[in-house]
Amino acid sequence: MPQTYDVIVIGAGAAGLMSAATAGYRGRRVLVIDHANKPGKKILMSGGGRCNFTNLNSTPANFLSANPHYGISALKRYTPQDFLELVDRHGIEHEEKAAGQLFCRDSSKDILNLLLIECEWAGAEIRLKTQVTGIREQASGYQVRTSAGTLECESLIIACGGLSIPTLGATGFGYEIARQFGLEVLPTRAGLVPFTLHPELKEQLAPLSGISCPVDVHCNGEHFREPMLVTHRGLSGPSMLQISSFWQPGDTLEIDLLPGENAQESLARLRRDKPQSTVAQYLNTQLPKRFAQAFNDLQGWHGPLQGFRNADIDAAGRTLNRWTIKPAGTEGYRTAEVTLGGVDTRQLSSRTMAVNDRPNLFFIGEVVDVTGHLGGHNFQWAWASGVAAGNEA
Ligand code: FDA
Repeated sequence: MPQTYDVIVIGAGAAGLMSAATAGYRGRRVLVIDHANKPGKKILMSGGGRCNFTNLNSTPANFLSANPHYGISALKRYTPQDFLELVDRHGIEHEEKAAGQLFCRDSSKDILNLLLIECEWAGAEIRLKTQVTGIREQASGYQVRTSAGTLECESLIIACGGLSIPTLGATGFGYEIARQFGLEVLPTRAGLVPFTLHPELKEQLAPLSGISCPVDVHCNGEHFREPMLVTHRGLSGPSMLQISSFWQPGDTLEIDLLPGENAQESLARLRRDKPQSTVAQYLNTQLPKRFAQAFNDLQGWHGPLQGFRNADIDAAGRTLNRWTIKPAGTEGYRTAEVTLGGVDTRQLSSRTMAVNDRPNLFFIGEVVDVTGHLGGHNFQWAWASGVAAGNEA
């Protein structure tokens, strides 16, 4: 005889555990299944091991989706303050790093423990190392065939996440289930991911490797004013991760290395007031010293400014305020924090996260075509969509 549950959740990640606890507290008999040997692996890895669990300034404008209004309802009904209250109730110490970005003071483990405790208190069972081999719709709900036997449930919540970081258990299984039930899956690509560079540029930038500096990067009508980090593989740091979600292959990045400063005007003024000074000296006052020196050498700006013609000053100013780079690509799903695209939300209810013509089949979290900016927004979506489905399933 198949074991029967009210709700089965596939995926013991952020969204799945949140939905399981929420449904469990409503008195539903809940089972969470995951093929991995541990729950919430991405939570443990997140925020450099300290989980940026929400963002107090999160608004719908911090999310990308082909259907930008979809997330608004769930995000409004479960807010960053709601999650913060839960974190406080569990006595987890936290701190605000950048504006609005809340991190655990100690370890990401605190957030995973919170979710596991909530699931336990709500009576939700978690079964790991369990493969799902097939799903079938039946009169009373769904039949889920697994490596540990056949299960039945009234409501099925798909919380399998996206494709990013396969070594942490990511698969395309959620998309397969969506397609099985006739849903469209919008093209997926890696987001919040470092850029790779063509060999020649990578070699040129090698002396800058390991140095971070604040920049304002522009691409496709979006821009982010945050630090950039040059690495031995390419370009990373918050500004590059953020803009990667808007970048398409072949696009050029425009990087303002001196945001808020008009480099052309400053260099022209310096030439007038101190003609013996050099661009390198100017850059030393504006950028981290190693970056200033290496970037100056890369551009070949040698000799005193009095030797620079107006056109040279204009060109140097342009390079500093609008340095253009064409990345070779991105590091892809191997290191991406998120997957853009996914289950098309136009076929889902924005109130419950259920499929429009199948009110007992839900899709939540990253598997859905809702992707947040860097800074705690993606977990906020996992919590909000998890609660929305858990309240209905
Ligand atoms: P998630 O990926 O968390 O969970 C999916 C679960 O489904 C996994 O447990 C997986 O094993 C399981 N699964 C997959 N296929 C299955 C199958 N076939 N059968 C059974 N189970 C299956 N966000 C943020 O807001 N702040 C941050 O600090 C960070 N930091 C961060 C760092 C790194 C390195 C990464 C990779 C990502 C982040 N993120 C982040 C993003 C955040 O981790 C992500 O948005 C959420 O974990 C998504 O939650 P989900 O529950 O949707 O998927």
